Amino acid sequence: MNLSSSALEILKARYLRPNETPEDMFRRVAKAVSLAELYYSSPSIAEEWEEKFYKVMVNLEFLPNSPTLMNAGTELGQLAACFVLPVEDSIEGIFDTVSLMAKIQKTGGGTGFSFSNLRPKGDKVKSTNGVASGPVSFMRVFDCVTDSIKQGGKRRGANMGVLSVYHPDIEEFITCKRDKRSFLNFNISVACSDEFFEKVERDENLDLINPRDGKVWRKVKAKDLLRLIAESAWDCGDPGILYIDEINRHNPTPSLGRIEATNPCGEVPLLPYEECNLGSINLSRVIKDGKVDWEKLSYLVEVGIRFLDNVIDVNVYPDWRIEKMAKGNRKIGLGIMGWAEFLIRLGIPYDSERALLMAEKVMSFINKKAFETSVKLARERGSFPNVDKSIYRGKPIRNATRTSIAPTGTISMIAGTTPSIEPLFAVAYEKKVLDNKKVVYVEPLFMEYAKNLSEAEIEKILEEGTVKNIDNLPEEVRRIFVTALEIPPEWHIKMQAAFQKYVDNAVSKTINLPEDITVEEIEKIFIMGFKEKLKGITVFRQGSKQGVIEFGVKKK
Ligand code: CDP
Repeated sequence: MNLSSSALEILKARYLRPNETPEDMFRRVAKAVSLAELYYSSPSIAEEWEEKFYKVMVNLEFLPNSPTLMNAGTELGQLAACFVLPVEDSIEGIFDTVSLMAKIQKTGGGTGFSFSNLRPKGDKVKSTNGVASGPVSFMRVFDCVTDSIKQGGKRRGANMGVLSVYHPDIEEFITCKRDKRSFLNFNISVACSDEFFEKVERDENLDLINPRDGKVWRKVKAKDLLRLIAESAWDCGDPGILYIDEINRHNPTPSLGRIEATNPCGEVPLLPYEECNLGSINLSRVIKDGKVDWEKLSYLVEVGIRFLDNVIDVNVYPDWRIEKMAKGNRKIGLGIMGWAEFLIRLGIPYDSERALLMAEKVMSFINKKAFETSVKLARERGSFPNVDKSIYRGKPIRNATRTSIAPTGTISMIAGTTPSIEPLFAVAYEKKVLDNKKVVYVEPLFMEYAKNLSEAEIEKILEEGTVKNIDNLPEEVRRIFVTALEIPPEWHIKMQAAFQKYVDNAVSKTINLPEDITVEEIEKIFIMGFKEKLKGITVFRQGSKQGVIEFGVKKK
């Protein structure tokens, strides 16, 4: 196999079983996932699919999310990356969920929670005659437990904490990560309604409501809340925003409940006890003779969807309620990685109209093919059991959702391509890998241009992370190697929106911001995300917290 040395290092440290080679790992996964075929057809068909699954993985054209690579065909057998659990307004309910969270994180799954149903701080507690401590204080319990569960020793647990913008404790929640020491195992997001943004625009008050009795607790200016969210995001990258009404307009099973939370990185809005398993197509491998290889892309979607549908059947579930929801809705999330590399190979700058058009073309193609494959699977295997409680009532379809764009943080490194739909972060940079070790990294795609540059020019690139000041490079080369921080925030949002149009679940994306951006500009970005019909948004201002990637290399 053609793996980079860093890919091999990651695989050895976290994915490979004792004495396993990467090929063995892909064989183990292909075999385990193909066993689902036996429920529906013959051993020879299962073998055929095992071979197809193996090939697309070993060629690094399609990879499932990390838990599938780590756990398929092993005793743990838990294959999904994304879960949402309910948090009830009772001590028993809260601690049941904490315990289930621990069980999930042990297997490498990430968990999301809405804390919006918890009564506010200072509210009465009947059974003890005391006062409630509020959502943020309970979140700390979740955070502590995550700290001590090291996801089977393989990666740090990840959580998403969501609070409704109407909750009386909303200000405490918004600012809970400002000290940059608390809630390190949490991403946090405020669930903002359409009404909230309308009130911001009209400069009106918002009622904060106690979820216990539905009574108005107090009023606050909507604008002040947006300001506080933007200030905190400016300061520490959190919270993000969930555009919760937009999420629910696309909820495929509204009669089963309203969606209140997402998984840790935001790409999958889920109902309580739902989970989702993800897989990503490596777009950098879908180019032939400088053109998009649509036939290959179509094939990869077909194989990817079948793979992910199979995962639902062979998965070992951490809880019966999760199994019931997973098998009832059969949600899966096929997405992409290598988008920046794909654009570079086609000679298209990331922040250009051409790139937006290409995003829509590629993702609508994938989404349509994913839908067709799911319909085909329904004809072979039946629709998802809750289909008649869904927006697809009366139509054959196997999966309540088919597509999702994940961050592909680790699997893109294994595949040796750029993560998700993110632009290049830098043409050269330092990256912290396992145990905080730092590795100097030069974008391989740039190597052929680097050959013709002087030593001084290479130094300059290392220092600045970008090639924009290298006069010796042709303008079009400088344009296609554009990096995240040179791309204006609007273009990050436009790219996310272009993909979101054709994704059933959501799109995980970081809106990278320069260090000197203002709080007002961040407010505008949040409003733009609402207008562009995103499902969620996360910003990251350079220098606001210790990122994983830092540049320029020379300064260190
Ligand atoms: O590349 P990989 O499959 O490892 O994961 P990803 O695409 O970066 O993240 C997908 C999802 O995995 C996240 O949204 C989380 O739900 C989960 N995850 C986690 O639980 N813990 C981590 N350290 C990273 C990801």
